[in-house]
Amino acid sequence: MIYLDNAATSFPKPEPVYQALDRFARTSLANPGRAGHRMAIAAERTLDDARHKLNQLFEGEAPERWILTLNCTDGLNLAIKGLVRPGDHVITTDLEHNSVSRPLRALEKAGVIRLTRIASVEGYVRAGDIAAAITDGTSLVVMTHASNVLGTVQPIEEVATAVRKAGALFLVDAAQSAGVVPISLRELPIDLIAFPGHKALYGPTGTGALYVGPRTDGKLRPWREGGTGGDSSSEVQPTLLPYLFEGGTPNVLGVAGLAAGIAWVVDQGPARLRAHEVELLQEVVDWVDRNEDWQVAGRWDPARHVGALSLRVPAGITPQDIGTILDTSFDIAVRPGLHCAPYIHRALGTAPDGTLRLSPGPFTTRAEIDLFIGALAEISANSF
Ligand code: ALA
Repeated sequence: MIYLDNAATSFPKPEPVYQALDRFARTSLANPGRAGHRMAIAAERTLDDARHKLNQLFEGEAPERWILTLNCTDGLNLAIKGLVRPGDHVITTDLEHNSVSRPLRALEKAGVIRLTRIASVEGYVRAGDIAAAITDGTSLVVMTHASNVLGTVQPIEEVATAVRKAGALFLVDAAQSAGVVPISLRELPIDLIAFPGHKALYGPTGTGALYVGPRTDGKLRPWREGGTGGDSSSEVQPTLLPYLFEGGTPNVLGVAGLAAGIAWVVDQGPARLRAHEVELLQEVVDWVDRNEDWQVAGRWDPARHVGALSLRVPAGITPQDIGTILDTSFDIAVRPGLHCAPYIHRALGTAPDGTLRLSPGPFTTRAEIDLFIGALAEISANSF
């Protein structure tokens, strides 16, 4: 199988991740913080180790500000539903994944918030458009760092500055960028950032994190209350971070794998990992440029791109058909369709069928990309 669906989840994982999962499952898979025995303490240390690694990589204020979540959707829901109040104005963009769009739209439909959705241009949101939409009532701006459909990297630096100046909170969905685009929370005025552990941080599925910056203190409410270990006598959730937001037994095995994945990313360097994926995509873009039946969706700018690329497919065949042929006849895995992000497809005119998305990873080779291109050429030749 040639796996070109790393934007959905990365595969394969680096070898140290498999080793960490196996070792941890055999030696330390106890319930962290619930008992004083050595295995429970080892499990707790694994969670602390992951928080430290996250804090170092993203230069956050403190390890306890990293809430370990089940996936990116979990972190985004915690942030959005824990922050907004009736009457708030919230700004978002048309590039968002349903993990942002659906909770916001549901709050809007229920009459809780007023929602402004900023339109992107060729896959890029203009920071000035967001700044211009901010009003006195704007409490929150939520946007993706990199489109999961197009791979385009958004100007979050400029947006963060504008949002901070206006006194609102800024929540970034870094699902496609964490691990490949350097992010410094010391340098950028971002209040909350959410990402999965299983994409470009190479942990297993069932892992993720939400950073809760100091400006959210006292404002962000927990929605998953329950056991945390520690003070069992407290009638309500302890206010101490990270336990305030981490009720229930965590995915400690997954976090052990995630910690190994983060260490691997630090070792490789995010910029180098991104460069490899973008170089591979450049080959596909060059081929598309020579074939007028195919088009890249959004504007291709290798300096502002992560390793996901969407293609508009030739008339007369759907992305779904091509995805099926690639899978069954060529053993190539891609993701056709709307990619859980319907608004951008409507804006680009690619709804309802969507696009054909490919997303190479750190272990994808040039030879595999050549096979992918050869397969597209063959499918095109046989379809018309
Ligand atoms: N959000 C993931 C994707 O874009 C699942 O494929």
